Amino acid sequence: MKATSSRQALLAATLFAAGMASAPAADALQGLPAGPLGESIQRGHDMIMNTNTDVRVKGFVGNALTCNSCHTDGGNNDHPGNFLATATKFPSYSKREDTVITLEDRVANCFMRSMNGMRPSTDSGVVVDMAAYISWLDRGKPILGGATPVPAKSPYAAMLKSAGEADVQAGAKVYDAHCASCHGAGGAGIAGSFPPIWGPDSYNAGAGLANVAKLATWVKGNMPLGNPSLSEREAFEVALFVDSHPRPDFMLSQHLRPGSAADDYNARVRSETDTAQGNLRKAGLDLKLLP
Ligand code: HEC
Ligand code: HEC
Repeated sequence: MKATSSRQALLAATLFAAGMASAPAADALQGLPAGPLGESIQRGHDMIMNTNTDVRVKGFVGNALTCNSCHTDGGNNDHPGNFLATATKFPSYSKREDTVITLEDRVANCFMRSMNGMRPSTDSGVVVDMAAYISWLDRGKPILGGATPVPAKSPYAAMLKSAGEADVQAGAKVYDAHCASCHGAGGAGIAGSFPPIWGPDSYNAGAGLANVAKLATWVKGNMPLGNPSLSEREAFEVALFVDSHPRPDFMLSQHLRPGSAADDYNARVRSETDTAQGNLRKAGLDLKLLP
């Protein structure tokens, strides 16, 4: 595919220029079972890598991202957002939906938020294939169920408490030095090569990464791509800068297919609206959105 090869060429050139080589991830698809299950896992993998261009799935996507934009290496690495214990955690209680959800629910919900699109049915081929791929990555691991370990304490809650205008400005400097070369000075990325990180084609205000502390954790372990090397302070500042920009509002009802809400959407919370400005306020920050 042309878009992929130009992206790879650009990425290789960038990493080469910076004197870095990216370690190839182990092949996620080695040893697939023959027959329908193997084919499902393969389709799930391909749709996770090419979500916004693959004809089987792109109709559910409302921005320029793929699942792989955030679940880097298709979730097959040890960075934040990996899928290497994901299937072992479900069913589990989700505060956001205020109910117990399945892996299939979790996959479908990402379409509404991170992908700013429509929620596919949990028994659709798209969701089943993606769940088959994620479960394949976790094969042989013990089921955690309710025993999911509590995540390590994040340093970002404390940084948020005292954050202000000066941190946004510091974040702008980090962005110029470490991010703008790929994502562009205006955050719009380069179509087909580097994804937009704010503005109309990015994740919406209801996504996990629209939360500054979650974005900081994710950036610390994933970016700059191929060489995640920021300090915690820098990751926090740049996350604050990125999430201080406009992005699509999230209104839950607009992401449920007409007629699907009552029987298919497994949630007790039926109404939610998030905006980029509102997220800053909710985090206790008295900051105005940047243009
Ligand atoms: C904009 C970034 C982004 C995109 C795009 C994205 N996700 Fe996610 N996803 C996240 C983050 C961040 C989390 C952790 C969520 C949290 O803590 O709220 C997550 C969590 C998940 C989980 C639960 C993981 C676990 O171990 O608990 C699954 C499953 C998942 N995503 C699947 C997908 C699928 C499938 C797609 C594509 C349809 C997708 N995601 C697209 C950012 C993204
Ligand atoms: C070498 C190019 C490069 C650099 C430098 C870089 N990124 Fe990325 N970034 C990418 C690519 C490519 C992806 C998508 C992952 C993939 O396709 O493998 C991505 C994905 C992302 C995403 C999630 C997807 C989205 O569009 O929202 C965020 C957020 C992000 N980068 C933020 C940053 C920040 C902050 C920095 C600076 C600290 C940075 N990036 C530096 C290439 C880069």
